[in-house]
Amino acid sequence: MADFKKITLVSLIAGLAVEVASLVGCRDSDSRRTNGKPASGTLTFTRDVAPVFFRECVACHRPGESAPFSLLTYRDVKRRARTIVAVTRSRFMPPWLPDPGYGQFAGERRLTDAQIETIRRWEAQGAPEGDPADLPPLPQFTEGWRLGQPDLVIKLPRPYILRADPPEVWRNFVIPIPVSTTRYVKTVELRPGSAGVVHHALLGVDPTRSSRRRDERDVEPGFDGMGMGDSQAPDGHLLGWTPGMVPFPGVEGKAWRLEPGTDLVLQLHVIPSGKPEVLNPIVGLYFAKAPPVGPLMSLMRLDADQAIDIPPGEKHFIVTDRFELPVDVEVLAAYPHAHFLAKTMEGLARLPDGTERWLIRISDWDFKWQDIYRYAKPIHLPKGTTISMRYSYDNSADNVRNPSRPPKRVVAGLRSSDEMAHLQLQVLPRSAEDAVLLKEALYRQALRKNPSDVWAYYELGNALRDKGQPLEAIRQYRAALERDPSHAAARNNLGVVLATQGNVDEAMSQYRQALRFEPDFADAHYNLGNALRAKGRLDEAIRHYREVLRLEPDLAEAHNNLGEVLSLQGKLDEAIAQFRIAVRIKPDSAEAHNNLGAGLGLQGKLGEAITHFRQALQIEPDHANARENLRIAVEKAVSAARVQR
Ligand code: HEC
Repeated sequence: MADFKKITLVSLIAGLAVEVASLVGCRDSDSRRTNGKPASGTLTFTRDVAPVFFRECVACHRPGESAPFSLLTYRDVKRRARTIVAVTRSRFMPPWLPDPGYGQFAGERRLTDAQIETIRRWEAQGAPEGDPADLPPLPQFTEGWRLGQPDLVIKLPRPYILRADPPEVWRNFVIPIPVSTTRYVKTVELRPGSAGVVHHALLGVDPTRSSRRRDERDVEPGFDGMGMGDSQAPDGHLLGWTPGMVPFPGVEGKAWRLEPGTDLVLQLHVIPSGKPEVLNPIVGLYFAKAPPVGPLMSLMRLDADQAIDIPPGEKHFIVTDRFELPVDVEVLAAYPHAHFLAKTMEGLARLPDGTERWLIRISDWDFKWQDIYRYAKPIHLPKGTTISMRYSYDNSADNVRNPSRPPKRVVAGLRSSDEMAHLQLQVLPRSAEDAVLLKEALYRQALRKNPSDVWAYYELGNALRDKGQPLEAIRQYRAALERDPSHAAARNNLGVVLATQGNVDEAMSQYRQALRFEPDFADAHYNLGNALRAKGRLDEAIRHYREVLRLEPDLAEAHNNLGEVLSLQGKLDEAIAQFRIAVRIKPDSAEAHNNLGAGLGLQGKLGEAITHFRQALQIEPDHANARENLRIAVEKAVSAARVQR
């Protein structure tokens, strides 16, 4: 990702300025000297050139980082001066793919023409060192966590040993995230370890157990491949790491929801170095102080995978996709994705008034330097805007990056010799309602392109459920299950919607089937427990609540509901114990306070009961049961006092 070394980064939403304090020193001297024009006269390393390297190169070119050599000292630079001139003039370095003028991104890594000319002239003049007193202070780099100590650090259960020799590897590590209650994650920092071999990383989350099961199929940690299983970008957050990037601080108020039982899926793209390496990445999670407010971010994906069928030798194979926005959005980031054959990538927005706005253009795609590009300022696109993507591919032998020699027919797929055509945009809709409309339109479009996309039916079902169209949602869940009967999440959600429609029997049957495919699916246990309780089958309900609590010991709702069933069975002491746990975990649950109060009241502990009814009413002044219970408890307490007198 962008290396936010330049001045200040205007954060995506809040306008919050983040300053990379350690580098301010070089910024000053640099802007004074180059100021848009190449420096004149005799150029020296210490005065004219070092500031450029300190600012633009050493984030990667220093010991322990991704680049193969350091550029911190005069000697380092002088030895390679000629190559440096070549790679800066060709703009191979610093690596940065988007074309200038086609969307403005935070932390762009691009030398100005003046800087390139300064380096060229300095080398041509014999690359003199100059007066050591002119040398700006070396930039300070933070060792360890750059965003400070994380709230939660997660590691591989044991390190992964990377073979010494090629081919390059995509390895997906599945790491359980040990939280016992819902958390909101503001941002994530990855320390990949072995920076020299890790080329980039992507992070996703998998609330199902499916990635874990894939991991278990071989003895080493993780599983191979460019596909990340069922993991997803959480709540529209794009999480990635590239060499030299400064971690994104996140935005308070837009954190993503992390549920207990979720696995982190970390994909590392690694290139063996000739000797075995120990891979031991660590991930830091930073929690938000409060749940997010307003609409969540969404990911919008344009893609043309179904159109990829590139004959060998074809130099200019084009695919396109387009999508009309059903609502206004702010575009926050772009993540274009293809493998080795892609050449040009274009993302363009045509507004309803006919004006065009480039979202991104890359005229010489290089998989190696892929990145997530965050806009310097969000781009507002009104409803009715058509977003289009157009990618071209070169499957000839002239393409030096072509992995197949001689070239062969290429279709879409997850192997590195296959291709892909995705343009993901991270957008912020204006309201939760708009987010649902956007999601509905996206998945309807996905299904028009690929009517066998199980995931799209499932997500369309969720969108329609959120939109308040339960019958339509049920139809989509069933369509998903027709194609994949083992889709436990679709079964569970179908059950929930059926239950709200009064069809509790079929709901129970769906939960049970979900559990057959996914025995540790806490949500399905919980929902089944609730359905059984509604049917009066209390012992069975208790069994399922206990399963939930085995899987998610801190789920207050399960403690509360278990308590309710126990009290229905007259087991008051056990019930009160459960309500107490619920209240401790979730002190702001009016329901749990009311239940605890009721249990205590039944045991004659009126004083304590009154306290909890009052707390329930403080949290939820309209809680009718708590009000009634409080009235009864007070009455009883008063008459008890009278009797005593
Ligand atoms: C984002 C990290 C990053 C930044 C910033 C960066 N480099 Fe590099 N550089 C690399 C990596 C990684 C390589 C190894 C090349 C490869 O893997 O293809 C490299 C290679 C090079 C090479 C060797 C190229 C060759 O063909 O042998 C030179 C010279 C170089 N960089 C100079 C620079 C200069 C000068 C700058 C600043 C203007 C710079 N780099 C900025 C990561 C970076």
